[in-house]
Amino acid sequence: MVKFDFKNSSINERMIYEMEEVVSKNHLFLHENPDDESNFLGWINLPENYDKSEFERIKKAAKKIQSDSEVLIVIGIGGSYLGARAVIEGITNCFYNYLPAKKRKFPMVIYAGNNLSPNYMNDLLNLIGEKDISINVISKSGTTTESAIAFRILREAIESKYGFEEAKKRIYVTTDKSKGALKGLADSENYETFVIPDNIGGRFSVLTAVGLLPIATAGIDIDKLMSGARDAREKYMDSSVKFNDCYKYAVVRNLLYNSGKKIEILANYEPQLHYFTEWWKQLYGESEGKDGHGIFPAGVDLTTDLHSMGQYIQDGERHLFETVLCVEKSRSDIEIKEDGDNVDGLNYLVGKGLDYINKKAMEGTVQAHVSGNVPNLMVTIEKLDEENLGHLIYFFEKACAMSGMLLGVNPFNQPGVEEYKRNMFKLLEKPGY
Ligand code: PA5
Repeated sequence: MVKFDFKNSSINERMIYEMEEVVSKNHLFLHENPDDESNFLGWINLPENYDKSEFERIKKAAKKIQSDSEVLIVIGIGGSYLGARAVIEGITNCFYNYLPAKKRKFPMVIYAGNNLSPNYMNDLLNLIGEKDISINVISKSGTTTESAIAFRILREAIESKYGFEEAKKRIYVTTDKSKGALKGLADSENYETFVIPDNIGGRFSVLTAVGLLPIATAGIDIDKLMSGARDAREKYMDSSVKFNDCYKYAVVRNLLYNSGKKIEILANYEPQLHYFTEWWKQLYGESEGKDGHGIFPAGVDLTTDLHSMGQYIQDGERHLFETVLCVEKSRSDIEIKEDGDNVDGLNYLVGKGLDYINKKAMEGTVQAHVSGNVPNLMVTIEKLDEENLGHLIYFFEKACAMSGMLLGVNPFNQPGVEEYKRNMFKLLEKPGY
């Protein structure tokens, strides 16, 4: 369950309610025909309407990977990667991949195909070494250069490790149901394949097989994740901005944008939320940054970045607002103990938990930023678990769709990302460029 608070934003209820009509009109558009194959609204009913037999197949595949692999390599980029990483890092142990296998219980999850660095790839190949591996290659278009190159290299590695037949049983493909080079390859090699529905774009796809297979492999309960998203779907069904916090968030950020606050910083106080922030940045950046418009989505990990970005946020150009992603209950705590000498001067904290100190740092920082003319929004969840993250994902997805429409852009395309590809292909002398 998400709580949204905008009391420190300088935006009031009256300003929000003035947007009621346009919000309701956009709501009608979102809900008119969400299951139509020809639009990109499939994520709206997904928590209810997902393919149950594929869902069971995902769980079965995850169990097989857990039983025969020490490492799952997830190949994908952008929307075909960030959601899985956001949930896995958000829920598992902070040092999940470093834990001994017995403690970790489930395979390490390593990501590939999200860059073109030879060092990263060589180090990854070295890391795998003698370990048993499986690969989940994820690409909706099936033609993305970064993931295709990574798959070519890693396919060769897995085939030379196990031989062609065994390698086939360790490769899982998540792609379009009929189009793209990856689909062709999966069909010809008979890899187990999962489908990214036509009407769900990459950045809205974390609750499809795109996210679910890696997430389930890491031992996370995907039934609970979907159940959290289902609750959110119910909760944010109201067409009125008065009763829909998700639309309220969309409206408030647009009002702030129109008042000159061009950058939204998502601030978390849990290192585990670093990749959730990365997922959020991609969702909002690709959805809204077009036609010369768009709030620039930035992120900070606090308190870490108070010692780097803190100065700018407090005192730099006043074109920012901040959305704090707050987790009410920490998964664990640790108490500050008395030290007889008190040389470090910390005895005033004796008996206090680190979570309490973290929360006070958050409160103090919010106060400082607000008084420094950085409007503040709070998005609060109870704890970092499957239900809460499922709910939060849906909250941000639906708010993003509404926000993009309020901004006057199409939130579901991404024409801008083609530009670099054209240049790169030309420089690489790809036929046809
Ligand atoms: O959200 C999007 O549509 C993009 O970020 C894509 O997910 C990303 O470009 C990867 O594309 P694909 O899944 O086709 O490899």
